[in-house]
Amino acid sequence: MSDLFKCCMCKKEFPSSERRYYGREDYCSECGAKAELLSLLSRAGIPRKFWGCKHENYIVSNENKTAYDYTLKFPFQDKSGLYLYGPIGTGKTHLASAITRKLFQKNCKYNIKFYSCPYFLDTIRKSYGNEYNNRDEDDVLYEAENSSLLILDDIGSERATDWAIETLFKIINFRYEHCSVTIFTSNLNPDELHNNLGERTVSRIIGMCNCCCVGGSDYRIIQNQKRMDATANPK
Ligand SMILES: Nc1ncnc2c1ncn2[C@@H]1O[C@H](COP(=O)(O)OP(=O)(O)O)[C@@H](O)[C@H]1O
Ligand SMILES: [Mg+2]
Ligand SMILES: [Zn+2]
Repeated sequence: MSDLFKCCMCKKEFPSSERRYYGREDYCSECGAKAELLSLLSRAGIPRKFWGCKHENYIVSNENKTAYDYTLKFPFQDKSGLYLYGPIGTGKTHLASAITRKLFQKNCKYNIKFYSCPYFLDTIRKSYGNEYNNRDEDDVLYEAENSSLLILDDIGSERATDWAIETLFKIINFRYEHCSVTIFTSNLNPDELHNNLGERTVSRIIGMCNCCCVGGSDYRIIQNQKRMDATANPK
């Protein structure tokens, strides 16, 4: 029948009334919504590995329950941010990505930017001294300062040079003064971060965030063992 079309993702046929264009492709409404969400996550800078991270596929334990509950309640009424800290592999980036996904699904009017902190500083640093690139640097800084939700992943894992300390201070102070919402993840608790970034930056982070420990074991090691077991003993 002429008024049927084929969805480019699920390959099923649908009446044209359910057609949704996205980019240059034809989608059914369900796949169109999925494609749009992935595109939003990608544009926000969420790494591909975390596009599927949701609250629903996060395993909650005693060690991460408090942090998990806070992430469920985000955004907070008082516009405070979150500082998620804990050992490697406990799902801090997972939870920050799950928040982003939920905000996009709810059509929240947040302009969200996710940066891995060492990579973020590298991007800014590399553009210094390159006259053709100054705009890029300005763009990254502009976005970091002006996005309505900034996620700085793995703060404290960057090399603590004077320049890095000063650059992070300026961005965090700007967001503090403008009451902008920021989510941080870190392997360091606020006391430990102090050694890297100093009192004035950490004091502002504490002033603007709910700080929660995401405890537990390294999920990557648990998954690795499961994968190796499954490969050794296929069903
Ligand atoms: N509690 C959990 N439940 C489900 N998946 C998890 C959990 N913790 C971690 N993961 C998964 O393990 C991997 C590592 O988590 P990640 O968020 O990168 O850890 P972190 O940022 O704390 O180092 C990711 O693929 C993530 O989806
Ligand atoms: Mg992480
Ligand atoms: Zn489809």
